[in-house]
Formats: sequence, C-alpha cells, structure tokens
Amino acid sequence: AAGLHRYLRDFCGCHVAWSGVQLRLPRPLPAVPGELTEASPYRYRYYQNVCTHSYSFVWWDWPRWEREIDWMALHGINLALAWGGQEAIWQRVYLALGLTQAEIDEYFTGPAFLAWGRMGNLHSWGGPLPRAWHLKQLYLQHRVLDRMRALGMTPVLPAFAGHVPKAIARVFPQVSVTQLGSWGHFNCSYSCAFLLAPGDPLFPLIGSLFLRELTREFDTDHIYGADTFNEMQPPSSDPAYLANATAAVFEAMAAVDPDAVWLLQGWLFQNQPEFWGPAQVGAVLGAVPQGRLLVLDLFAESQPVYARTASFRGQPFIWCMLHNFGGNHGLFGALEAVNQGPAAARLFPNSTMVGTGIAPEGIGQNEVVYALMAELGWRKDPVPDLSAWVGRFAERRYGAAQPDAAAAWRLLLRSVYNCSGEACRGHNRSPLVRRPSLQMNTTVWYNRSDVFEAWRLLLKASPNLTASPAFRYDLLDVTRQALQELVSLYYEEARAAYLQQELVGLLRAGGLLAYELLPALDEVLASDRHFLLGSWLAQARAAAVSEAQADLYELNSRYQLTLWGPEGNILDYANKQLAGLVAHYYAPRWRLFVESLADSLARAAPFQQRRFNRDVFRLEQAFVLSSRRYRSQPQGDTVDLARRVFLKFAPPRAAGAS
Ligand SMILES: *[C@@H]1O[C@H](CO)[C@@H](O)[C@H](O)[C@H]1NC(C)=O
Ligand SMILES: *[C@@H]1O[C@H](CO)[C@@H](O)[C@H](O)[C@H]1NC(C)=O
Ligand SMILES: *[C@@H]1O[C@H](CO)[C@@H](O)[C@H](O)[C@H]1NC(C)=O
Ligand SMILES: *[C@@H]1O[C@H](CO)[C@@H](O)[C@H](O)[C@H]1NC(C)=O
Ligand SMILES: *[C@@H]1O[C@H](CO)[C@@H](O)[C@H](O)[C@H]1NC(C)=O
Ligand SMILES: *[C@@H]1O[C@H](CO)[C@@H](O)[C@H](O)[C@H]1NC(C)=O
Ligand SMILES: *[C@@H]1O[C@H](CO)[C@@H](O)[C@H](O)[C@H]1NC(C)=O
Repeated sequence: AAGLHRYLRDFCGCHVAWSGVQLRLPRPLPAVPGELTEASPYRYRYYQNVCTHSYSFVWWDWPRWEREIDWMALHGINLALAWGGQEAIWQRVYLALGLTQAEIDEYFTGPAFLAWGRMGNLHSWGGPLPRAWHLKQLYLQHRVLDRMRALGMTPVLPAFAGHVPKAIARVFPQVSVTQLGSWGHFNCSYSCAFLLAPGDPLFPLIGSLFLRELTREFDTDHIYGADTFNEMQPPSSDPAYLANATAAVFEAMAAVDPDAVWLLQGWLFQNQPEFWGPAQVGAVLGAVPQGRLLVLDLFAESQPVYARTASFRGQPFIWCMLHNFGGNHGLFGALEAVNQGPAAARLFPNSTMVGTGIAPEGIGQNEVVYALMAELGWRKDPVPDLSAWVGRFAERRYGAAQPDAAAAWRLLLRSVYNCSGEACRGHNRSPLVRRPSLQMNTTVWYNRSDVFEAWRLLLKASPNLTASPAFRYDLLDVTRQALQELVSLYYEEARAAYLQQELVGLLRAGGLLAYELLPALDEVLASDRHFLLGSWLAQARAAAVSEAQADLYELNSRYQLTLWGPEGNILDYANKQLAGLVAHYYAPRWRLFVESLADSLARAAPFQQRRFNRDVFRLEQAFVLSSRRYRSQPQGDTVDLARRVFLKFAPPRAAGAS
C-alpha cells in the first residue's frame, strides 16, 4: 500500500488526506523507469495518541474506520493503537471478580472521555456507558483488527496499568490501594484514581485476567500499551517504588504473553520534569528487560526526551510528532523542527530509535504537517527544500500547478508553519476561542500579514481551482485563520478603547468583532461539511440506538468541545472552529463581554472579571445543555463567501494589493 501511495504521489500527482482525495489519474498511467526499491531506515511507523480515540474517533462507524485504515496503509503506518472495545472486556473481568453492574457503570466515563478513563486520569464523568456501546465497540474492534492485520500492521492492544474501580475495596477488603491526587481541575468525584499496590497479589491476578480475556477475544500481536502515571504524580518518588510499580505492569503482561512488549507513552517524563529526575526515569526504564519496553517520545518535535535520557537508557524508542492538542483548528506547525527531528534522533550517539510516529490528540487539521511527517518515515534525510516541497504539495492537493496558490503556501510555510521554540507552546490560544478577559495574549510567532497575503493569493487563484475540493477546503481554512487574526486585532482595539475610556471606540471595534466578524466566520464555516457542528453532533447521535443514548452522546460531545468538565474544568481546551459553535457559543460570550465593558464605562465602575466569569458560565452551560439541532449539510459557496468577507474585512494593504 505504501508503494502504491508512492506511485500515486510521485508519478501520478495524486493526494490522499483526511479532508478528501485527489485521484485524477493521468491517462495512460505513467510508466515507472525500472524497479524502485525504498527501504525505510526505521522498523516502525507508528500512529495515534491515546487521546485521538476520544477527540476524533469516538463516534466513528465502520466506513469511517475503513477510510482511516486505508489512509494509514497508504502512508506506510505499521504500528497503531487498537483500543476499541476494551471496556467490554473490563466489564467481564470486573463482573467475574464480583463487582456489581452498578459499580461498573459508576466507574466508566462516557464515550467522549474514555481516553482519560483508560489512563486513570478520570472516572465516572460523562457516563455511564450503555450496553449497546460495548456491543458496537466490540464489533468495530474486530473489524479494525482484521483489516489492520490484513494490511500487515501491528495493532497495539491495551494492558492493565494498575488503576482499579473504588468498588474493588468492597469485594476485597484487604486490598492495598493508594488514591492518587486529582487531575485536570476535576475533584475526586471524577478523578483521584485508585492505584493497586504493585506488591498486592491482586495486581498480577487482575492484570492477567484482563489480558487473557482480551487476547482470547481479539488474539494478539504481542505489543501492549499501558500508562500508569500519565499526568499523575506517583505516590512516591522512591526509585524502588517506581521500579516495582513498573515491573508489576510488565510481569502481568509477560505472565499471559511471554513475548509481550510494552508500549509506553513517554509523555509523563516531559510533562512533569520536576518529578521525573534521572533516578526516577532510570527506575522505570530499568524495570523492564532491555528491548521489551518500547517508548514513545511523544512530543519529540518540541521537547525530545531521548536526548536527556541517553536514548531512554537503551530501551528502543519511537520519535513521535505530537503536533496537535485537543483537535484545535488554528493553522500551526513546526515544519523545520519536524523535518530535522527524526534524522537527528537516529544519528544521536548510541541512538536506540526504531521508528517515527504521528501522535496528535486530534486529527482533521493542518494536513500539510502530517503529509510531511508521513513522508519522513521513509526518508533517511530531511526534505532538502521545504519551500519547493510545499509547492509540490499544493500542486498534488489541487490537481494543478497554480503559481498564486504555490506562493500562498510559501507564505504559510514561513509564517504559521515555521514555529520554533517557546512560541509554539502557546499556539492557538487565540482570543476567538477563549473566554474573553482584559488580559488575553494576542502575540503570535509569525507575521500576520503573511496570512492575509496568503488569503489574497488563494482568492486570486480561485478561478483556476474552484473545481478542487481540497482547494476550497484550504481557502476556507485560510479565511478562517484570517478571521481569527482579525478577532485578535479588533480585540486589541476594543481593549485599548476601553482602557482609554472611549465608549465609541469600544463599541465600534467590539461591535464589529461580536456582531459582524463572528457571524461572517460562522457563515463561511457552514459552507464545508468538515466544519459543521451539526455534522459532528449528528455522528454522535447516530452512534446511539435510542433517543436517551443519543442525548447522552450529544451531551458528551458538547462538553468536550467547550467546558470539558461540569464546571469548565478544562475550559475550551478542545476548542474547534465549527459553524454553530461560533454562532452559539463563542459569539454570545463575546457579545456579553463587549456589553459588560460598555456598561462598566457607562457606570464608571471597574469591569469585574469574576462577575463576568460567573455570568458567562451560564451562557456556556446553556450551550452545552441545549438540544438545538444544527445543519449537518453544508450551505453556501465557499469561494463566494470567502471573497465577500475578504472584501469587507481584509486589512487595507492586503486588499489594496489585489
Ligand atoms: C465534585 O464536583 C461536582 C460538580 O462539579 C459536585 O457535584 C460534587 O459534589 C463534587 N465532589 C466532591 C467530592 O467535592
Ligand atoms: C519493591 O518490591 C520488593 C519485592 O517485592 C519489596 O521487597 C520492596 O519493599 C518494594 N519496595 C518498595 C519501595 O515498594
Ligand atoms: C556510546 O556507547 C559507548 C559504548 O558503550 C560508550 O563508550 C559511549 O560513551 C556512548 N556514547 C554516548 C554519547 O553515550
Ligand atoms: C524558519 O525559521 C527559521 C528561524 O527560526 C529560519 O532559519 C528558517 O529559514 C525559516 N524557514 C522558512 C521556510 O521560512
Ligand atoms: C504573550 O505570549 C508570548 C508568546 O507566547 C510571550 O512571549 C509573552 O511574554 C506573552 N505576553 C504576556 C503579556 O503574557
Ligand atoms: C510581513 O509580511 C508582509 C506580507 O507578506 C510583508 O510585506 C512584510 O514586510 C512583513 N513584515 C515583516 C516585519 O517581516
Ligand atoms: C487560470 O485561468 C485563466 C482564465 O480562466 C487562464 O487564462 C489561465 O491560464 C489559468 N492559469 C493557470 C495557471 O491555469
């Protein structure tokens, strides 16, 4: 499949991406000059993050999974998580151990939060899981596994990491468990996992019961994922404890499958560096026989861990690009760092790198970044000239070479896609998708004019490329980005006016932002099926078999996109820019903000952020709890709409230059 993709890409000028495919084959098919042999320098090309299942895959049916596995195969992925259906297996195990159905229902999170349930961060929130959910996930998992295996991929199954339901202590009063601290601003009703002591006889028992039942159901390819301390402080920093806790997980795997290899997300080491000193990291890495722990250096394009752990102390590791948090839509990428990263890691002294990986929390955004990373899995050296590379990328994507489109892409490359260092950390904290305040940081790492200029160039190219769905998607995405920039600029203007107590200036800039820009953005987004809240919520509802379940799934989705937890616990983390969400979530709170500032000026009383937060929370919650239906079919013509908002809102320089 990877060979076929190579032919399609390099000989036929085709393109396969999440947003669609461009498969116009030249006739006759181009001949290949002799035999081409391509050997990847790496054994593995890995895909997924535990979170991708919740942010992107959660409501998928088999046809959508099938397309994704095709995408994986064409891009040469040969190692991927296959974590569906595991709660059904856990349920069997816990019932066999004597827990009641009610205790199990109380434990699992809802579908949109399972990723964090699986890592022990959360329990209960968004649940319970309906019986039909389990059945459907078992069915999907079988099909996913069959297809992945048929295509020669190694699916990674889950294993027991040590977290247990509270009710274990009812059934086994002697059990030794430790309650961990809270996670993600959730209180202990939803977090503070119970962790089984590594020396407790129940540890190997539960671990092997689960793995035996799982592999009996799904068979195995011998690689298992488990994360005990992901974003959670272990109960002790004593290296002996950490080694025991690690060994217990591995031994429970190896007891069932003597060939077991443990795939560990290395995120914990870089996420809490103050806890994970050399002794603590060494304890974990040394507790599993050499070669049996496969570590994902999960955020290696930004904070590689291999370099400061001497290649994970000799354990094999996979250089992963994480890139995306929460499935956010803003244009962003560190293409230079991504391009250089894998080869540098392979050439690191005594490197134990065995693969490259693509590990975004959410997919369906910034496709150029993923096209590059997938290609790097097959290259010894970095792409020599990224400017030329993005030009060819655009040409294949649109099915035609177009000089203005290529120029637009070069501008995007040097701006939004050339993030480096600290600046990347705060990416997509755009005020547009945040709860407004007077303290918002509008700094970006690039020259905003590059985005406006790319916008102008794409519009200029549009008569030649209107027939290309990928072009229309990109035109929409860049228009969306330009409007995101404009929100920042008008916000700054409104804030400055407020601080100078100029009511008219405040109302002009704030009113434009809240009453014109955001509605215009919503209208543009509504023109493409990829940017519809209605379509995502319809997928959630379609995954259910009753109205009550459909309501639960929709509620899960609405929470995940906005408040995340009942009280805005991880507010706007997984923000998206979708038609419907802009009009009915972001816009109302911006209107309230502008009105509150105006009111403060009128009354000559200071703006009170705390009071505003209380008031705006009511709007946010009303959106989550609303049962309003949104269109799941696009409406309007992207090119017309983009041109209209350009003429109306583009900064004078960009507009004048056309
Ligand atoms: C946790 O928060 C929820 C609401 O968000 C509340 O209902 C519950 O009582 C809290 N639990 C604890 C243990 O404080
Ligand atoms: C680690 O496990 C060993 C063997 O079970 C035990 O003797 C030791 O006390 C444990 N150490 C810690 C710190 O838990
Ligand atoms: C690489 O391994 C060799 C042999 O074990 C060792 O002498 C050398 O110090 C290592 N180099 C680095 C940079 O770790
Ligand atoms: C990206 O930025 C770096 C400096 O951080 C610069 O050296 C490089 O030329 C830039 N790349 C592009 C394509 O603009
Ligand atoms: C805003 O963000 C930038 C880049 O992340 C940072 O350098 C700057 O210090 C921040 N400014 C404020 C006022 O926090
Ligand atoms: C920002 O980008 C614009 C348009 O691409 C360009 O004309 C301008 O010189 C750039 N400014 C800086 C400071 O690089
Ligand atoms: C774009 O379209 C115009 C007229 O529709 C045509 O004259 C021009 O050759 C086209 N350019 C390209 C690069 O296809």
